[in-house]
Amino acid sequence: MTIGISDIAFATAHQVLDLQQLADAQGIDVGKYYIGIGQSEMSVPFPDEDIVTMGADAAAQIIARHGADGIRTLLFATESGIDQSKSAGVFVHGLLGLGEHCRVVELKQACYSATAALQFALGIVARDASEKVLVIASDVARYALDTSGEPTQGAAAVAFLVTADPALLEIEPVTGLHTDDIHDFWRPNYLSTALVDGKYSLAAYLGALEGAWTEYQERGGAAFADIARFCYHQPFTKMAVKAHDRLCKVAGAELDKEQRLAQIAASLQMNRRTGNSYTASIYVGLLSLLERDGADLAGERIGFFSYGSGSVSEFFTGVVRPGYRELLRTARDAATLDDRVAIAHARYRALHEAVDAVQGSDYETAAETPGPYRFAGVVDHVRRYETRG
Ligand code: HMG
Repeated sequence: MTIGISDIAFATAHQVLDLQQLADAQGIDVGKYYIGIGQSEMSVPFPDEDIVTMGADAAAQIIARHGADGIRTLLFATESGIDQSKSAGVFVHGLLGLGEHCRVVELKQACYSATAALQFALGIVARDASEKVLVIASDVARYALDTSGEPTQGAAAVAFLVTADPALLEIEPVTGLHTDDIHDFWRPNYLSTALVDGKYSLAAYLGALEGAWTEYQERGGAAFADIARFCYHQPFTKMAVKAHDRLCKVAGAELDKEQRLAQIAASLQMNRRTGNSYTASIYVGLLSLLERDGADLAGERIGFFSYGSGSVSEFFTGVVRPGYRELLRTARDAATLDDRVAIAHARYRALHEAVDAVQGSDYETAAETPGPYRFAGVVDHVRRYETRG
């Protein structure tokens, strides 16, 4: 039996800040962002958008196509949780009207947890091939204003369906793992923005890649030459370029710069415009690769490196199924990015500051999002969500 991803859908926040705006406000050359870190824009949520509205938006596309029959597990991966106890997935379960015979849980380990969700989903389906698992990865990446992480903020969600005999991508069984108890990036409970040791986090990511790849090889994984494309966790797209350069070196692959870039270029395009979406980022990369790579990838093997600070990481592979192109929502996803409302730097800053101002209080949000679901506010400490009419 083969198991993997049968469908995958994308959503993001509906406002966008061009990093030119940020560079101008900081009085620096935008080349540092456009070229140096490889980011051109970041998605910025309206006050009535969050991980639940984005996650529901992505998942609703899957449910609209496949129905909810057979979905007995919903795994919600995030590190921007909205409650310390209740899973964000239960809010989505309610918004989408999923059946009561469903286990719903939230998973956390920085940007890695969507890959944990994928691996757990494979196990559930291996045990009973009639089961379907809905995985949602949704995050809003936030750093404090005027810090080095600021240009690497962003927001997005992906939802994917894990089933037997998958229509899109078969996930292969061999994986390489790497865990190390470090503080490269973290967010204490009392902060709404992450703390990061920027340069150290880059080194930690690259070290973890070497560790995970080495174990992947030791466990009988595919040779580098048998992997056609690579898809990395992308806190900013230049990180994936640095990672792939490192992997080529470690694997002894003698490729020039152009050949190395050709193996990852399509996977970078959407993340370049959403910004970091933490758990969702590597799977936004997968969508970007499938939708934007000019080659027919049917039958080709893709290598994935999933990294979550702190840190846990995994290298694994999947093989693209014939007919995958018919399942993609390429025009819709391009329009989702193009149709975001462009905002000025002053509004971005005001929205950023407003997040902490409302913590702990009851409040209503104005109806602003053009998306299908909205966060209506907090009443008696309970978060309220609505489907837009
Ligand atoms: P910085 O120190 O402000 O930037 O922050 P820099 O001085 O290192 O410059 C960045 C690059 O731009 C450099 O290129 C410069 O040369 C270049 P590089 O040497 O690296 O190739 N540059 C220019 N290029 C063209 N024209 C110019 C120009 N000026 C400079 N005019 C840093 C960079 C990434 C550290 C910062 O943005 C940061 O702290 N980001 C957040 C942390 C992060 O994303 N870490 C990534 C690894 S950890 C991870 O992936 C996990 C994470 O997603 C969280 C999770 O797991 O939950 C973060």
